[in-house]
Amino acid sequence: MPKVFVFDHPLIQHKLTYIRDVNTGTKEFRELVDEVATLMAFEITRDLPLEETEVETPVQLTKSKVLAGKKLGIVPILRAGIGMIDGILKLIPAAKVGHIGLYRDPETLQPVEYYVKLPADVAERDFILVDPMLATGGSAVEAVNSLKKRGAIHIKFMCLIAAPEGVEALQKAHPDVDIYIAALDEKLNDHGYIVPGLGDAGDRLFGTK
Ligand code: URA
Repeated sequence: MPKVFVFDHPLIQHKLTYIRDVNTGTKEFRELVDEVATLMAFEITRDLPLEETEVETPVQLTKSKVLAGKKLGIVPILRAGIGMIDGILKLIPAAKVGHIGLYRDPETLQPVEYYVKLPADVAERDFILVDPMLATGGSAVEAVNSLKKRGAIHIKFMCLIAAPEGVEALQKAHPDVDIYIAALDEKLNDHGYIVPGLGDAGDRLFGTK
């Protein structure tokens, strides 16, 4: 079964409180999401493999460690996922960035791909799929489908706030995808918003309504 990791670091929890606050304006909201994304990137990369190398310090030759294993790809789900990219890239500047755009079919209510652009070497990378909100899980499940269809093997999903319904749906559809969140909220309301949540992440990031 996939694992669910809740990042309870005090800095993440503190900043998340102000992200949730209805009185936080667009500029501050954006900055806070960026900061939390950086902190989450620090945590989510904790298990990256290392290998030993040699380095010559000004004092002597010594053994030291560098990252080994596959390179990383970061994939925001459009559009709100974009708000977390710069924060992640501050820690992993060499990562390549793909994009996945989905819309909800008005008849089936299922998410449908309208845009997918990924690094050419998909199978050679480990992926972090990013969306601030894991609500019903429909978009996350479809985005993982899109990645897998194109050859991605190892995928982590990262979001700020998840609803239990979304976690369950993603776990069920993709038991191999670990889920990393800053907070697991209570439920979804009748409009598909996470309760208590933070409202519409895209609108709050981009100042739209
Ligand atoms: N998407 C959002 O932006 N907010 C929610 O609460 C649910 C889905």
